[in-house]
Amino acid sequence: MKLILGIESSCDETGVALYHSERGLLAHVLHTQVAMHSEYGGVVPELASRDHIRHVLPLIRAVAQKAGCQLQDVDAIAYTQGPGLSGALLVGASIACALAYALDVPAIGIHHLEGHLLSPLLSDPAPEFPFVALLVSGGHTQLMRVDGVGQYTLLGETLDDAAGEAFDKSAKLLGLSYPGGPELAKLAARGQPWRFKLPRPMLHSGDLDFSFSGLKTAVLTLTRQHTLDEQGLDEQTRADIAHAVQEAIVEVLVDKSLLALKQTGLKQLVVAGGVGANQRLRTQLDQAAGRRGFRVFYPDLEFCTDNGAMIAFAAALRLQQQEARRDYRFNVKPRWDLQQINYTS
Ligand code: KG4
Ligand code: ZN
Repeated sequence: MKLILGIESSCDETGVALYHSERGLLAHVLHTQVAMHSEYGGVVPELASRDHIRHVLPLIRAVAQKAGCQLQDVDAIAYTQGPGLSGALLVGASIACALAYALDVPAIGIHHLEGHLLSPLLSDPAPEFPFVALLVSGGHTQLMRVDGVGQYTLLGETLDDAAGEAFDKSAKLLGLSYPGGPELAKLAARGQPWRFKLPRPMLHSGDLDFSFSGLKTAVLTLTRQHTLDEQGLDEQTRADIAHAVQEAIVEVLVDKSLLALKQTGLKQLVVAGGVGANQRLRTQLDQAAGRRGFRVFYPDLEFCTDNGAMIAFAAALRLQQQEARRDYRFNVKPRWDLQQINYTS
């Protein structure tokens, strides 16, 4: 199995990539729906599905052209089978399986989070197994122990909102556009560190679980208080609140990641998922880990958020261990526990 076409369509990004098992990533292309959804302040699932339909075939043609390949050269087609929006997932799954059938090659359903957590292995230097992975996306916040491809153990996770969700909801309360994470980070850079301190939920719980839902309530209270003030919610106050939100989320993520390394005795931490693009998180993690002799690995920025490369790459690693079947019946898994995909012990 040499050349793998990967298709990602779990949410609001259509990502397509061609990965070669010996030559590495040949090309990847992406269409983001951010502009379309921003009008509504969040992802509208039906619009997302329709947009994936519009873009997936042109993107497949574009990636083949960019890589200098023909579709007939493809040895397997990987697609995101879940978790995600069911309609959006169905677009990728049905295109992948139909194309695989037509080309007489296997179709492989990939777990979206497996794609994210293996994506730092696409970079150089890459971590070596075993490592701890901090998965921080719009829908998930998890600490996993990764002993190898397909060997994932959940160490802790959020009991309510995900870290990305906390960024996005707080950003919305501050009047920022969707997706709020990067916007909030930009605003936070102008914030004064001393002005507000927000709660750090479960910071001292002693376990590796998280809780972020209290944060948006605290932000709501602060924004309401200041809206009622005479001067209203001025620009500096918005920046100061954004700063406090980012600090609270980052501190909890850093502390729990260090605790996970301490508890497992492992030395490497991999950060994956959209929130991994946050510069403050990277700086704080690097500093804290460096002091204790740990090493932190991040995917390149373009592979932090959703993309097709991580799906093609995860399939390539899996195919080194598992035989691919030519079975074109497909189902999607909008909810799917990562530990269920373990296939080696
Ligand atoms: O992994 P991802 O692209 O999609 C999901 O699978 O959810 O993650 C998207 C999340 C969003 O919540 C977005 O606001 C957040 O990642 N995000 C960030 C940054 N870039 C993306 N959050 C904070 N700072 C950033 N720079
Ligand atoms: Zn994702």
